[in-house]
Amino acid sequence: MPDQSRAPVLEALEAYHRERHTPFTPPGHKQGRGADPRVRAVLGDDVFRADVLASSGLDDRASSNKVIAHAQELMADAVGADNAFFSTCGSSLSVKSAMLAVAGRHGRLLVGRDAHKSVISGLVLSGLQPVWVAPRHDRDRHLAHPPSPADVERALDRDSDVAGVLITSPTPYGTCADVSAIAELCHGRGLPLLVDEAWGAHLPFHERLPTWAMDAGADLCVVSIHKMGAGLEQGSVFHQQGDLIDPTFLAACADMLSTTSPNVLLWTGMDGWRRQMVEHGHELLDAALRVADDVRERIAAVPGLTPLRDELIGPEASHELDELKVLVDVSAAGISGYQAADWLRAHRAVDVGLSDHRRIEAQLSLADDPASADVLLDALTALAGAAGELPAPPRVELPSPEALDTDAVMLPRDAFFATVEDVPLRKAEGRICAEQVTPYPPGIPALLPGERITGEIVEYLATGVPAGMVLPDPADPQLETVRVVA
Ligand SMILES: Cc1ncc(COP(=O)(O)O)c(C=O)c1O
Repeated sequence: MPDQSRAPVLEALEAYHRERHTPFTPPGHKQGRGADPRVRAVLGDDVFRADVLASSGLDDRASSNKVIAHAQELMADAVGADNAFFSTCGSSLSVKSAMLAVAGRHGRLLVGRDAHKSVISGLVLSGLQPVWVAPRHDRDRHLAHPPSPADVERALDRDSDVAGVLITSPTPYGTCADVSAIAELCHGRGLPLLVDEAWGAHLPFHERLPTWAMDAGADLCVVSIHKMGAGLEQGSVFHQQGDLIDPTFLAACADMLSTTSPNVLLWTGMDGWRRQMVEHGHELLDAALRVADDVRERIAAVPGLTPLRDELIGPEASHELDELKVLVDVSAAGISGYQAADWLRAHRAVDVGLSDHRRIEAQLSLADDPASADVLLDALTALAGAAGELPAPPRVELPSPEALDTDAVMLPRDAFFATVEDVPLRKAEGRICAEQVTPYPPGIPALLPGERITGEIVEYLATGVPAGMVLPDPADPQLETVRVVA
């Protein structure tokens, strides 16, 4: 029985300091001695002291103490997976490793079209052919929910020549797929189910949270420990179970993409968080969920603000909901989510997680308590009071669900690496896109390489940017021009 009170990475780091090692290895700051004092003044010396080389530092040259292997075993045991792999390159890398391991040999993968941009990058890098399954669309709220089991089944009936299925659940909005039913139907066809569960690291630790992908029978899931957990930014784990995915090949795919200099700070964050969750996760999440209930109730009493919950769940909507993601519709206050987020940051130094044309999302976590909830509520109340003085938000021409179902006419890789030209956005209708165009957050591409650009999507993006939409990936972030296949 693994001893969950241990934290192998933290213990090894403590021993490194106790034994007073003197490194003649990277990192060149040598325990901070070489770092600029002005940097140390901001970061603190402990950051540099914890930044040690993995082999010939944290562990010996041959990693014979198996520090990281032991920490991964404890992680897998804590969440009921067969294997867990730590990554220090975010879920952005983990999801690519998973895609390669499952579909690299075969070449085709069924993918929910509401995939994160890292999945699209994975398609470009691997040359995989995506077979798309459209998400469910809430036409009134202009919100996409993960595909239903019936959607996945129909997509597989249309085209079953795929190596597996990849869905995103929870979405950045906290909405979820019926992972159990999708896993069952995948397994009925002998296909593995991969879940991009970047937003779900905390799910195994409280029954009021949506079903954890491993419990739902998925073969692999990817989680960001830094998003809904308490690890450091970029810490990600992928979990695997069953015999549809070969863990050794999965590790080889991850090794190919990973850094050879993993950040031990990130490992400590993941290792320590796992122990914290095993020992105290339920009570911490219980308290956080109670804070979320209270926050929603109080937001509902603020004029112009509507916390969303019940309207997100239903047969044509989300199967389950992560209630730690407090989604607030601000449209009745006459402002956009972009304006709300900017106002909260500028006037109250309050930063929200996600904003779109009509909503903001305040992510709560085990770190929140009544005091931080009060800060949020005070800020939102002030926002509602100030909303009348803000200019009317520019109108965003939102595309219909049908318009979002674009024609994929080239492989993402072929389009991305094709000879390209930049054309004015308004003249791009009918052309084949050669880049990702991803309104951020949430980071779901509106356009991706290989798709034929429709007039409605042109209108959406052309009106979205002046309204506050941020597009980090196109060659022209203002999108006056868009990159297309020449
Ligand atoms: C659904 C989804 N998958 C993957 C990622 C990538 O995660 P990371 O930021 O850990 O690389 C994100 C990030 O926002 C995401 O929202």
